Amino acid sequence: MTGRFEGQTALITGSSGMGLASALRLAREGARVHLCGIDEALNEAAREAVGDLPVTVTRVDLTRDDDVDAWVRAAGDADGINHLVNAAGIQTYGDLDTTTIADWDRVMSVNLRAFFTASHFAWPYLKARGNGAIIHISSVQGFANQKNVLGYATTKGAVHAMTRAMAVDCARHGVRVVSISPGSVRTPLLEYGAAQIAGPDGDPEDVIAMFGRGHPIGRIGTAEEVAGLVAWLCSSEGAFVTGTDVRIDGGLTAQLGV
Ligand SMILES: NC(=O)c1ccc[n+]([C@@H]2O[C@H](COP(=O)([O-])OP(=O)(O)OC[C@H]3O[C@@H](n4cnc5c(N)ncnc54)[C@H](O)[C@@H]3O)[C@@H](O)[C@H]2O)c1
Repeated sequence: MTGRFEGQTALITGSSGMGLASALRLAREGARVHLCGIDEALNEAAREAVGDLPVTVTRVDLTRDDDVDAWVRAAGDADGINHLVNAAGIQTYGDLDTTTIADWDRVMSVNLRAFFTASHFAWPYLKARGNGAIIHISSVQGFANQKNVLGYATTKGAVHAMTRAMAVDCARHGVRVVSISPGSVRTPLLEYGAAQIAGPDGDPEDVIAMFGRGHPIGRIGTAEEVAGLVAWLCSSEGAFVTGTDVRIDGGLTAQLGV
């Protein structure tokens, strides 16, 4: 690994799955990383995974503005901020009949509003460094979706629009804004989704295998593959990429299902 992030600091939301994999990748390449998540069991597992790498892991509820502000401010005042990776998210299921207003508000709050608030609080620090990126983890479901994901798909499509709007405004300050749309990637969130689809009598592993067969490449992705893309986009090699979405989906959205 090269030290292409030496002297740089990244803030990453979501202490498991793609957030954790991105933290490990950036830290191994020289970045100081501040990672956060709501779930203390996942936070503790992340602390063990990072070992001696320069990564802090903090309990933050991203739906609480004061929590987000305090986390960003502490990290920014200590180390400055070059990159923000918004990876935290929740999966909700429901259609127009079954999505309650509480479910709608919850998924908007974590998957969309918190992407804005973390970016908002980090912006003075990102602008001051003037050499970095905001990466939003969206989803292929922002382009085309499964049944029964009304709220989730809405947040992911909105993240694509938010990425464009932020990128146009941030470019002159030397900060790029890019979204990533993964297909199925093995993480706690995917395993939760597979268990919902399998139901009490089914096997989530059968559902995950079915997801894999649905991708032309013949398998689901790994969090490390997404982390590699996050690193490339944050690095100087991604210097001309902004205001767009990059799909990492094994061809899933290239193929018609009929
Ligand atoms: N896994 C997939 O197949 C897949 C595919 C496309 C997009 N995504 C998106 O990728 C992103 C990362 O998810 P993942 O798959 O790595 O799953 P994950 O479950 O490992 O990570 C999500 C993290 O968000 C944290 N989180 C949830 N609510 C929070 C809150 N209020 N405050 C702070 N942290 C909170 C969780 O504790 C968890 O650590 C999500 O935005 C997800 O929607 C996932």
